[in-house]
Amino acid sequence: MHARLFLASVLVVSLCACSFGADFAQGTADSITMPPGNRVSQTMLAGDKLVTFRSWLDIPYVSNPVEPEYQKLNIYIPEEYFTEGGTVNGYTAKTAPIFMPNGVGGYMPGKQFIPANDTRHGTPNAALYALSRGYVVVAPAIRGRTLEHGKAPTLIVDYKAAVRWVRHNKDRLPAGDTEKIISDGLSAGGALSSLLGATGNAKEYEPYLKEIGAEDERDDIFASAVYCPITNLENADMPYEWIFNGVNTYHMGPAREMDENMKAASEALKAAFPAYLNGLNLKGYTLDENGNGTFRTYIEGLYIAAAQKALDAGVNVRGLDWLTVEGDKVTGADLSKYAVWATRMKAAPAFDSLNMKSFENNEFSDKHFTEYAFTHSTAEAPAMAEAEKIYIMNPMNFIGREGVDTAKHWRIRHGVKDRDTSLAVPAILALKLSQEGYDADVAAVWGVPHDGNYDLPELFDWLDGICR
Ligand code: DHB
Repeated sequence: MHARLFLASVLVVSLCACSFGADFAQGTADSITMPPGNRVSQTMLAGDKLVTFRSWLDIPYVSNPVEPEYQKLNIYIPEEYFTEGGTVNGYTAKTAPIFMPNGVGGYMPGKQFIPANDTRHGTPNAALYALSRGYVVVAPAIRGRTLEHGKAPTLIVDYKAAVRWVRHNKDRLPAGDTEKIISDGLSAGGALSSLLGATGNAKEYEPYLKEIGAEDERDDIFASAVYCPITNLENADMPYEWIFNGVNTYHMGPAREMDENMKAASEALKAAFPAYLNGLNLKGYTLDENGNGTFRTYIEGLYIAAAQKALDAGVNVRGLDWLTVEGDKVTGADLSKYAVWATRMKAAPAFDSLNMKSFENNEFSDKHFTEYAFTHSTAEAPAMAEAEKIYIMNPMNFIGREGVDTAKHWRIRHGVKDRDTSLAVPAILALKLSQEGYDADVAAVWGVPHDGNYDLPELFDWLDGICR
């Protein structure tokens, strides 16, 4: 493994000896306007495959950037597409899907993805792996909450602007099918991927897009890859307590006990969840006032399926008090015991903190975004975020809405060991999508904590299935 990573880190970098025009020359391989020197050809080892690709770096995707360091993108294109008739994995320069991963985490600014080997997973990262499968990669940087001009909703405005730039330059890109754009992200980046997928062409974002000089184009996409999304923010505190109520030690930093205000919040939010869930009218999925019912069985079923898949692959899932295994079949999961096993990460409320100091409060300009936390706030000067901003930060508000072009295909994954948000959050997103007629493939993944892009071969098998 070490030798492999070492080899992989040795890049063969060669500057292309080609001329740069002042503008795109339609349809030719050497046509993108780039400062000389930015265009390089590299060969990297992705697993056991050598991948050669060309890069165009730091292209602004809006004409009025407010944070120019972040409102720019990189393009990476497999070398094969620069040869007449060249193919990779059955794709050609014309048909290659465009994979657009975002690097956002913690609602912080996200840098452009750079193809590389990922030492954490010991595999190629998503950008390099995508290239090895013949995808064109467009990697935008995106503004985040720690920038002067980076609070909600700027992250989704930037991601949309990047999509619009790609579409606007459709005939000038050397390769890539702009009707096959795929978003990808994890955690806050998963929330962002969901937002991009859900809100295609929704008019609410128009003023923000105009302000930064985004192209006047469609911003709908073909598919969304979503890992552990920290999304549906104004409703996510309730399902967190539906799962973790009764577990009073939290593990954000050193282990601490929830105080009386937090425990009271846990009780209230848990009690409020069934009404929220039932109000979504997800046919066949309901909860009674105690939080039991078909939706609970569905969530337990996702954990059972994750354990079964692991067991079938030879992983030992036995000996856990929350999981029942009979012979070679996983037959039960108990959510209350699951919470004790998983442990609680966040105090209640998990997202809209009583002290107004969570990542999400900061994302909403240091404001509350739920009625509960606002009315029970312990902050010195509690304030509520604008309703319009809360609304346009939530993909749930757009799915199935008239005049919105939601992505047709979705793959949503959440680790069994993830306690950054409740599995109910991605599950509700998937159920809503399915109910509105979209193709939503959702699963929990055994052994995985809060993470993403850990199953790239499976992700790209699924993408090939929908793109070909
Ligand atoms: C992320 C994680 C969180 O727990 C959270 O509340 C927001 C974002 C993240 O990893 O992106």
